[in-house]
Amino acid sequence: MGGSSAAQTAEGFSLEVSLGPLRLSSPLIGASGCVAFGEEYRRLYENSRQAMEGSSIAQLGAIVTKAVSLKPRGGNPPPRVAETPAGLLNSIGLQNPGLDHFLAELAPRLSQLGTKVIVNLVGDTAQEFAELASILSQKTDFPAFELDLSCPNVEEGGRSFAMSLPSLREVISRVRQVTDRFLIAKLAPNVCDIGEFAQAAVEAGADALTVANTWIGMVVDVERRTSRIGRTTGGVSGPAIRPLTMALVHRVRQAVRVPILASGGAVRTQDVLEYLIVGASAVQIGTGLWIDPMCPLKINRGLREYLARHRMSLGELIGSFQAEVSRGG
Ligand SMILES: Cc1cc2nc3c(=O)[nH]c(=O)nc-3n(C[C@H](O)[C@H](O)[C@H](O)COP(=O)(O)O)c2cc1C
Repeated sequence: MGGSSAAQTAEGFSLEVSLGPLRLSSPLIGASGCVAFGEEYRRLYENSRQAMEGSSIAQLGAIVTKAVSLKPRGGNPPPRVAETPAGLLNSIGLQNPGLDHFLAELAPRLSQLGTKVIVNLVGDTAQEFAELASILSQKTDFPAFELDLSCPNVEEGGRSFAMSLPSLREVISRVRQVTDRFLIAKLAPNVCDIGEFAQAAVEAGADALTVANTWIGMVVDVERRTSRIGRTTGGVSGPAIRPLTMALVHRVRQAVRVPILASGGAVRTQDVLEYLIVGASAVQIGTGLWIDPMCPLKINRGLREYLARHRMSLGELIGSFQAEVSRGG
């Protein structure tokens, strides 16, 4: 990593980061549900290359696919998104074409994407999660799976896996038994003490944690006196949730030692720096890509400039938060 020579330019500072076996060219990762299966962003960045130097999907160290389930899912009734102050409320409902289509059509193209691919898995039962992980491990060579245990939109008997310690443990340990791929458990923010859930996930076999999914929220249409989305509640994302999720990342960092992938409202260099400083090894960008699709280029440039200015490596920056700061002269 860079940082030793005073004459070193910002370009000399490496943004490479390792998540287990995954070596990423940047700590930025496209978040699940916000980059589909990568194709549109790959083309967008290619088409923007003339206008913006360095424009490439590889500005994202990896993408996480939209959730893949065993059977195709149609998703929730529209409207599926509504704006909130500094954020977005969504109830997409995990719409996806299902595993067979994923294997036949999407997986071959994803292998050519030009950046690393993490496959996001979702199921209604622990058995479904395990089946998905087992088939994907046999038929593809994607290096990592992210388990969406926390989506607030789809209920199975009112249960969200990530909000119950026994269910969380059951899914992760069942999946762990059938795959040796790098396993990332995506936690829910709406729990009493996320530290307990982080510990349970790691004990059950998770290699890393995504902290966290969207926060449960509601927006009311006062003229119709109904919800402004097709379901009563949805998930809030975007800058509105960033300080809330920041505190969760800090808590999880204290509770476990595995790598953390932060997810919540990152759009600017400052946001990513904050997450890295409190202990995330990588930062997912979701709603931020919809606000500014080019933000990864700007953030990567900003990260290098910060590292050059502080003469430190990315490894030194990660987790460098000082809990007790003397503010006196
Ligand atoms: C429209 C939309 C669809 C999403 N779909 C998924 C999904 O399929 N699986 C999942 O784990 N998270 C999903 N998420 C959550 C995001 O991956 C991310 O964790 C969350 O939006 C917080 O990050 P952000 O503020 O950067 O968007 C979705 C979010 C949005 C806005």
